[in-house]
Amino acid sequence: MHPNSLLTIDSLRREEIIDLLNDAYCFSNLYKDWHLSTNGPIANLFFENSTRTHYSFASAELQLGLKVEDMYPEFSSLTKGESLYDTCKTFEAIGYKALVIRNKQDEYFKQLTNINIPIINAGDGCGNHPSQCLLDLYTILEHFHRIKGLKVAIIGDIAHSRVANSDYQALKMFGADVTFSGPEEFKREGFPFTNIDEAIKSSDVVMLLRIQFERLEGPMHISKEEYHQKFGLTKQRYEMMKENSIIMHPAPVNRGLEIDSDLVEASKSKIFRQMTNGVLVRKAIIKRAFNEKPFSEKNSDWSF
Ligand code: CP
Repeated sequence: MHPNSLLTIDSLRREEIIDLLNDAYCFSNLYKDWHLSTNGPIANLFFENSTRTHYSFASAELQLGLKVEDMYPEFSSLTKGESLYDTCKTFEAIGYKALVIRNKQDEYFKQLTNINIPIINAGDGCGNHPSQCLLDLYTILEHFHRIKGLKVAIIGDIAHSRVANSDYQALKMFGADVTFSGPEEFKREGFPFTNIDEAIKSSDVVMLLRIQFERLEGPMHISKEEYHQKFGLTKQRYEMMKENSIIMHPAPVNRGLEIDSDLVEASKSKIFRQMTNGVLVRKAIIKRAFNEKPFSEKNSDWSF
């Protein structure tokens, strides 16, 4: 595997994460117009649907001056039975310099160890979502200027969430106190669970997760209305939140289910800000993939 690949958040050292977050911050001000000295090309291989991750990677790539190709699996030789490995090896052979990949298989990248160009994981099944994790850290830092000591509640479909997994790893690494809440059927082994009202009252960050209907094996044993009342961020629960607390959600949002539709753009909500920050963070990830050193300027007042 190429050393500048980004597959999981826990494959990064703490200092590497800080460098990526600092580079993303630099892209918001000092280095707004910075671009790579190569034009790539880079290819985006999305085997699962995506709006935010796919198009914010594409936006980041274009801003960095790369030529971008989006592969559509239904028009590729995957339909003739070609493997993921042979598809990636083909992109390498025909001159692509990096690949951004989303796939529904957990840890699909384990079959790609002989690919010699950087691979950026844009989400693997229920496993990892490192670029979402970095943009979540960035969004928390932008508001609180620190992560250490913050209380973070992650609520909803924990079992199927690669975001819950990656965010838990990174938030623990930076000293946040993380708890989870939601229905019994969405619990994940090794993730500490709390009552939702207690979690919401005491947390600085309330992160809601989408129910991933596409990964459920059968129908839910609870109506949507009952789910919203028991496990969703209702207007009543919003009133219980701490004064300086924030709402996050990786999106897409099931409005009216895990969060009341009116709260998606409430004053505490950072949901669309997360998407804006996603472009900055993905620029930093691509810059690293192309072997550029971190910017030397440290111009944020964030403490780690
Ligand atoms: N948050 C996220 O991964 O969204 P998309 O599935 O739209 O990329």
